Amino acid sequence: MSIEIADHVRDIPRSGIRDFFEIVQTMDDVISLGIGEPDFATPWHIREAAIYALERGRTGYTSNLGLPRLRRSISDYVRKKFDVRYEPLSEILVSVGVSESIDLALRALLNPGDEVLYHEPCYVSYAPSITLARGVARAIETRVEDGFRLTASALEKAIGPRTRVLMMNFPTNPTGATMTPADLEEIAAVCIRHNLVVMTDEIYSELTFDEGRHTSIASLPGMKERTVFLHGVSKAFAMTGWRIGFACAPTELIEAMMKIHQYAILCAPIMGQDATIEALERGDESVAKMRNEYQMRRNFITRALNDMGLDCPKPKGSFYVFPKISSTGLTSREFSMRLLNEEKVAVVPGTAFGPSGEGHVRCSFATGLDQIKVAMERMAAFVSRVSSTKP
Ligand SMILES: Cc1ncc(COP(=O)(O)O)c(C=O)c1O
Repeated sequence: MSIEIADHVRDIPRSGIRDFFEIVQTMDDVISLGIGEPDFATPWHIREAAIYALERGRTGYTSNLGLPRLRRSISDYVRKKFDVRYEPLSEILVSVGVSESIDLALRALLNPGDEVLYHEPCYVSYAPSITLARGVARAIETRVEDGFRLTASALEKAIGPRTRVLMMNFPTNPTGATMTPADLEEIAAVCIRHNLVVMTDEIYSELTFDEGRHTSIASLPGMKERTVFLHGVSKAFAMTGWRIGFACAPTELIEAMMKIHQYAILCAPIMGQDATIEALERGDESVAKMRNEYQMRRNFITRALNDMGLDCPKPKGSFYVFPKISSTGLTSREFSMRLLNEEKVAVVPGTAFGPSGEGHVRCSFATGLDQIKVAMERMAAFVSRVSSTKP
């Protein structure tokens, strides 16, 4: 018997990153700049708090929305860092990573056929998550010349009669793009005029460099009531494995998301929730140390890529650079496959983040500087060889 899979699931392509890294795993001595995950272990004081909680026997279910104590910590943290006030008991939901909150919000908001706009290149899960929620995913291409920012005019042009939601992610995976308060004000004005709900994934916000201040669109006048603010501890706190994210949104939406979460997941793991209280309340210093290290690596890798002849703007946030490789005459996939086979360096083809990523590759600097240095030497040798044999 062959089991029939639902059409909308069957037709979703597998993640380009997964396919690529399955090849990487079969090879020895590869330096990987492909991973979207901190190379740091979770800071010790956070691990210690979680161990202490376990020792006290804190191993059960929590409230569906998450520990009330954690929701108070989230509320304080979001008020301090993002300048938006959320009611801890009714406007915050703790989820299994930001990933689950994205899914919950889309499923709670969309009727079949409703359109969701998102700027591309973007995180690999956005388009499939929209499709799985029976929505229609519409990409807005962003361009290197605009610093990969979303412009109000591009947004305005993309809005159609079925558009309900705009998904944003600044700092952006994979481009490292950020938005100024003025950029966000223009986007907010369009969203208000067209009555759009905004889902803003700000998971890289603490990794904003050069003392730059991150602004959340949720903090702008008239936006809190139409925004789902998404954040979590995976990236800045080096806590990917704890699987904690959260959504802050108007009560009626949190209530709807909670119904899906309650029946599908029940609650996020208590160990991660206890660890997150410590992270949010006392993690600033640890985050600052990691951010300084990322910034140093960013400076190094950007210089190295430009020196080898690849055009690479300095990203203002995240832990990714997105150099242009089209000068080599190769496509993103050819470049990545040949670099892997010939020099044993893994980078991600830009097309894994949508068709508009063609001509670029993503290199993560969430890898030690020693490794990055060797990877850059190998990549420079590759680029010079390819360029000298270009027809
Ligand atoms: C933009 C973005 N959002 C969400 C996630 C997933 O986050 P979490 O680990 O909280 O599910 C990632 C992971 O790479 C990401 O890059």
